[in-house]
Amino acid sequence: MNNIDIAADFLRKDDVVAIPTETVYGLAGNAYSEKAIKRIFEVKNRPFFNPLIVHIKAIDELTQIATNIPSAAYKLADAFWPGPLTLVLDKQPSIPELVTGGKKTVAVRIPSHPVALELLGNLEFPLVAPSANPFNYLSPTSAEHVKSQLGDKIPFVLDGGDCAKGVESTIIGFDGEKPVLYRLGAISMEDIEDVIGHLEVFTKSETSPNAPGMLSKHYSPTTKFCLTENIEQELANNKGKKIGLLIFQQKIDDDSVAHQEILSDRGSLDEAASNLFSALHKMDKLNLDVILAERFPDKGLGKTINDRLQRAASQTKAH
Ligand code: TXA
Ligand code: MG
Repeated sequence: MNNIDIAADFLRKDDVVAIPTETVYGLAGNAYSEKAIKRIFEVKNRPFFNPLIVHIKAIDELTQIATNIPSAAYKLADAFWPGPLTLVLDKQPSIPELVTGGKKTVAVRIPSHPVALELLGNLEFPLVAPSANPFNYLSPTSAEHVKSQLGDKIPFVLDGGDCAKGVESTIIGFDGEKPVLYRLGAISMEDIEDVIGHLEVFTKSETSPNAPGMLSKHYSPTTKFCLTENIEQELANNKGKKIGLLIFQQKIDDDSVAHQEILSDRGSLDEAASNLFSALHKMDKLNLDVILAERFPDKGLGKTINDRLQRAASQTKAH
């Protein structure tokens, strides 16, 4: 049996397995299996109010999952599927409430990772898959990350190599016909706006956390973490400590720094995004006293990187 068949076998038995996607690794289960869905929440230690994304293999499956689909949603799907775009749409009654956290809407996407697509192609059902990390911890971008975080809790990790995008999908919902950004992700706001025009950003005040990816604390390393506009100043503030630096492009010339991770020496924000979580995973294992991260340029995927860094640095607990 090849690895995709092994994964499919577990999934058909209502078990959960980790799967590669182009964004991050997901913890997957049959979207219609109550047993599998409950197990996902249990393994992640995730609160039930936080809904899951349904992964489908082709756009002709969309109407089995969602209804009242706005034309802008089809425009976005045409432009970005398969790929790192999640759409939040009115749900079909057949989608279990456990998937949607009791909401009337459902999040759905077609991943572009060839292994994920082949697996979905072998299955008779769609997969729900949150990122395969314990709730609030860093998202996994390699099979090794999953194994070290959840390896003893799940029967199988389907290895598809390092995730090409390295940050989660961009999530777009709709207010009537009007698209609203719920989570910054692997597709930049600029690229979305090229397809559908102005994109409003969801603000939390309306209801309690609609997209918990938007919670203030999320994606956090265990090591103390600080996001700063002024690295030199923070270095001075942390003198004598074992410091790790997370830097965009240019190494900082300072012998007192224990470790530096450069996310893209050629200055590509896309490359920096793809290296972000793996750099944080690596530094979180070095027993540093503090990780100092510099703020990235506020454009393209720099916005997504800043969003993740800000949540990692937040001191407020998510729940
Ligand atoms: O790239 C990704 O999206 C990865 C890969 C595995 O596909 N998945 C992922 O799932 O990031 P997760 O569960 O870590 O994040 C899903 C986000 C959560 O913040 C959740 O609140 C939001 O999607 N979400 C899901 N359903 C929603 C809904 N009906 N309304 C609003 N937000 C929703
Ligand atoms: Mg997540």
